[in-house]
Amino acid sequence: MKGFIFLLIASVIFTGSIICAAFNPGSVPAARGNPAFAGSAACASCHADIFKSSRHTAHFQTSAVPDDASIKGSFTPGKNQFVYNKWMVVELEKKKDVFLQTAYMNGIPTEQREFGIVIGSGRKGQTYLYWDKNRLFQLPVSYFTPANDWCNSPGYSDNYIRFDRPIPATCLECHATYIEAKERKDGITVFNKKTLLYGIDCERCHGPGAAHVAFHTQHPELKTASNIISTKSFSRQQRLDACAQCHSGLRKHTQPAFSFAVGQKLDDYSTPNYDIDTVGNLDVHGNQYGLLTACKCFKMAEQLDCSSCHNVHVSERQNMAAFSQRCINCHNMGGVAHDSCSYKPPAGIVLADNCVDCHMPLLPSRKIMLKLANASVAEADMVRTHFVNVYQDATKRFVEKNR
Ligand code: HEC
Ligand code: HEC
Ligand code: HEC
Ligand code: HEC
Ligand code: HEC
Ligand code: HEC
Ligand code: HEC
Repeated sequence: MKGFIFLLIASVIFTGSIICAAFNPGSVPAARGNPAFAGSAACASCHADIFKSSRHTAHFQTSAVPDDASIKGSFTPGKNQFVYNKWMVVELEKKKDVFLQTAYMNGIPTEQREFGIVIGSGRKGQTYLYWDKNRLFQLPVSYFTPANDWCNSPGYSDNYIRFDRPIPATCLECHATYIEAKERKDGITVFNKKTLLYGIDCERCHGPGAAHVAFHTQHPELKTASNIISTKSFSRQQRLDACAQCHSGLRKHTQPAFSFAVGQKLDDYSTPNYDIDTVGNLDVHGNQYGLLTACKCFKMAEQLDCSSCHNVHVSERQNMAAFSQRCINCHNMGGVAHDSCSYKPPAGIVLADNCVDCHMPLLPSRKIMLKLANASVAEADMVRTHFVNVYQDATKRFVEKNR
């Protein structure tokens, strides 16, 4: 089972660093100087339900302190190696509370580094970073969920053990709440480790909340929100931009990481990286924004945005009945054509149970390929398209599977 070549997020990580190098001009000031974060524990007393349910979301779990729960790979002897070839092995070890990756060449240890940050909730995979003073680098071995095993880190050569891939601030901008980062004149990014807030937590989407907490603690009788960005008065584009900063593929940064705040205009901070925004040119991976905004539901329903289908405070993965209910909020099933589904299903298929697999099917990514050790060809990663449409092939597959 050894020797998975893990290319899942190769393009994200690889181009991520290129973008950072190419578009961050010279030295860059710390973003949003001295932001007043409270930490989500401070939100729990007044927003208990949201606080509790959001702990289980992929957002909250997307970066973490390394521990037994956050690291999905196994440290059990026999399962704690990644073999590159007969000369090169990485051992994964746990010593007390410290997790280590050690490179061995012909049985002799050559380099050892400690897990510093876990990136990825483990829906598809995880990768791990280590600290070298105030710099961050990627560890050689990652974890690949479909195989439930360690794998070679995306972007690293699969026949040589490397520890030398530097991590740009943009990586944590999409996978954490905050870290103070600075690009030096020589192009090297340095971080202030103490300022790291793990996970995509409340304040990543709602902005720093210390002043809001202080105000409402002092004025428990006031029921109108103060000192917090209110999404209620947002335009549709402001609401979309809040998600598009991370869900429109890789973007060209014109401002430092973490300077965009929800409510501002995203294009003033970074611009989309796809040249021609036709659907044929967009990849289904990671660009939900580009695909959704091209589809007819979006164009015809003025109020539609990501929150029409997603409640980001709750993990609703695989709950097709709940998602379908949100389609039905607009598509009055049983109404006139164009409004309701015009497909006449064979007996046994209930349309209302699952609009999703026929109209937003899993489609193969054209950018992200996965290759198993002994396979001759790479297989495409399957991702949920956000171009809502009629898909005859997906309908056929769905009917065959569910009849
Ligand atoms: C002492 C109580 C209290 C604490 C602690 C608190 N809030 Fe609030 N919050 C309120 C009240 C009161 C409102 C207004 C009523 C409502 O929308 O629930 C509010 C509203 C909000 C809103 C909606 C704003 C709008 O108008 O759209 C957000 C977002 C929010 N809080 C985020 C947070 C975050 C993030 C934290 C933690 C950093 C937090 N709150 C901590 C009392 C509190
Ligand atoms: C533009 C924002 C962005 C940047 C930059 C970015 N990522 Fe991601 N990453 C995402 C999104 C969004 C997903 C989920 C993709 C999906 O399922 O469509 C993801 C998925 C992942 C996953 C898989 C998580 C899982 O369990 O499925 C890993 C691991 C990961 N990224 C690591 C990294 C690392 C390491 C870097 C930096 C070197 C990086 N990413 C840079 C947005 C980003
Ligand atoms: C991924 C982004 C994201 C994260 C993380 C997030 N929120 Fe929200 N939150 C939103 C959006 C978007 C809305 C508006 C939803 C709508 O308009 O339907 C919202 C609405 C709210 C509201 C007002 C409406 C309501 O549902 O009561 C409160 C209060 C709130 N969030 C608190 C929190 C707290 C507390 C946390 C952390 C425990 C948190 N949010 C985490 C994006 C986020
Ligand atoms: C700071 C970057 C960031 C922002 C802002 C953000 N996301 Fe995400 N989102 C991610 C990353 C990264 C993942 C993958 C997390 C993982 O699995 O490790 C993700 C995953 C998701 C998922 C998959 C969850 C699952 O359990 O399968 C949904 C749905 C989603 N985001 C919707 C949204 C919506 C809607 C918004 C706006 C309200 C939003 N996101 C804002 C970065 C972000
Ligand atoms: C906010 C309202 C809204 C939501 C939510 C919504 N739609 Fe739509 N959708 C529309 C409107 C409006 C149209 C255009 C209808 C017309 O042609 O007059 C449309 C068009 C469509 C079409 C026709 C596409 C084409 O190109 O002909 C399909 C299929 C569709 N929606 C399926 C869905 C599914 C499945 C969901 C849930 C996953 C969904 N919609 C959620 C409003 C919505
Ligand atoms: C018409 C309904 C609808 C809208 C609008 C919508 N989504 Fe989704 N989204 C879904 C459904 C359904 C899934 C599949 C959920 C699952 O498989 O658990 C999904 C899955 C996702 C995933 C996980 C992707 C994967 O391949 O695992 C992400 C990330 C996501 N949505 C982000 C967004 C963002 C960002 C927006 C706004 C630009 C958005 N969605 C708007 C219905 C919608
Ligand atoms: C088994 C697959 C399947 C399921 C489940 C399904 N649809 Fe459809 N739907 C189709 C097909 C195929 C068409 C095109 C029908 C035709 O051309 O005769 C269609 C057409 C549509 C249209 C376009 C109508 C028009 O004439 O423009 C809408 C809107 C729609 N479906 C919405 C939905 C919604 C909402 C749900 C869930 C409640 C749903 N569909 C469930 C397969 C499905």
